[in-house]
Amino acid sequence: MIEMVPENRDQIRYSEENFGWTELKPNYRIDLRNPSNDDIDQFINANMVSDWSQLSWKDVGKPYEVKTVAKSKREWEKDHGDMSVKTSWEFFNRSFHDWFVKDVPGELTQSKQNLKKYFSRFQMSDVKKALGETVRLSLWNYAHRIEDGVWDPRGKRALFKGLDIDKPRILFMGAAEGYEAMQLHAMYPGGEVVMVDYDEFCKTDRFGLFPESYPFLGINRATNQPRVCHKDDMNIHYVVDDIRNLPFGKEFDIVLSVGLLEHFPDEYKHEVMDWHRKFLKPDGYAIMTTPRHQLKSRLFYMIMADVMNHTYRELMDIRQMGLYVYEGGFDILRHGFIKVHNGIVARPR
Ligand SMILES: C[S@@+](CC[C@H](N)C(=O)[O-])C[C@H]1O[C@@H](n2cnc3c(N)ncnc32)[C@H](O)[C@@H]1O
Repeated sequence: MIEMVPENRDQIRYSEENFGWTELKPNYRIDLRNPSNDDIDQFINANMVSDWSQLSWKDVGKPYEVKTVAKSKREWEKDHGDMSVKTSWEFFNRSFHDWFVKDVPGELTQSKQNLKKYFSRFQMSDVKKALGETVRLSLWNYAHRIEDGVWDPRGKRALFKGLDIDKPRILFMGAAEGYEAMQLHAMYPGGEVVMVDYDEFCKTDRFGLFPESYPFLGINRATNQPRVCHKDDMNIHYVVDDIRNLPFGKEFDIVLSVGLLEHFPDEYKHEVMDWHRKFLKPDGYAIMTTPRHQLKSRLFYMIMADVMNHTYRELMDIRQMGLYVYEGGFDILRHGFIKVHNGIVARPR
């Protein structure tokens, strides 16, 4: 039965009775297909490299740097000078969040109507703006809503599957809205999630307003059967601080980052890898993803530059990412690519 969320009558709260179901909401996809994860391996192509010690930078080359910068950042810098990394993230998070809460089909219809109107009146500079907005909305509609490439629950479940842990404590560094830690917590329940982001907006808005009705496919510990989990069922603590200030020891079973490593030039990559080791139990798992270097990702970051390009950013392939992780002192247990990211599960050597 589809149960209504009491505080918001138009939000449906999905349950186990909806297994097998997928549906497009105005701003994201619901995907309850394959709840037992049996056929999920097709979403990660693993084991391209058998011996990481044999790979060198000469073999794999360096990542591609995205150089187009968001207009809002360029304009801010005209008045204020160089934008700090933290302020850049604050710009990014506000801008990116706006896209997750859009009624995409509604805005696309409006944008196309504007385009027609401006065109019929020969208002060419407005035509150009409306055209840009229509292209961005169409791309977002395809990438996030239709393909579900940003959250990619099936790819993430394939990456996270089969870990040897019970009731894990999970640390999510640079958590933003916290999606992947919620997916992990649903799959490995009974423990605790600590999300960390130094931008308070991530706690209040990106995570705070993440839809409570969104169904994560996970497991019921008591019955070992698939179940549907929601944000408000979860044991989550959100810390607003710099990762560099965290007081924790080696106490987490999983240390997770999603889209973090590629924002640091090579001279800082070691520091980021150290963060993944510093808080991890010796037999814990470091799980990382970074955006893939592929033509469609280059096009995505070019077209979405004003929405997303506030910080240093690289696109890398799985061999380049793996080499950073291996050189950072980790053994790689699983590697491959999901829809738009590379994914690695590793353990400190
Ligand atoms: C690119 S985002 C992660 C991708 C995320 N899944 C998203 O949808 O935006 C990286 C996040 O890390 C945070 N961050 C970057 N450096 C940090 C640091 N030193 N300490 C805490 N948070 C940091 C940023 O504020 C940002 O929210």
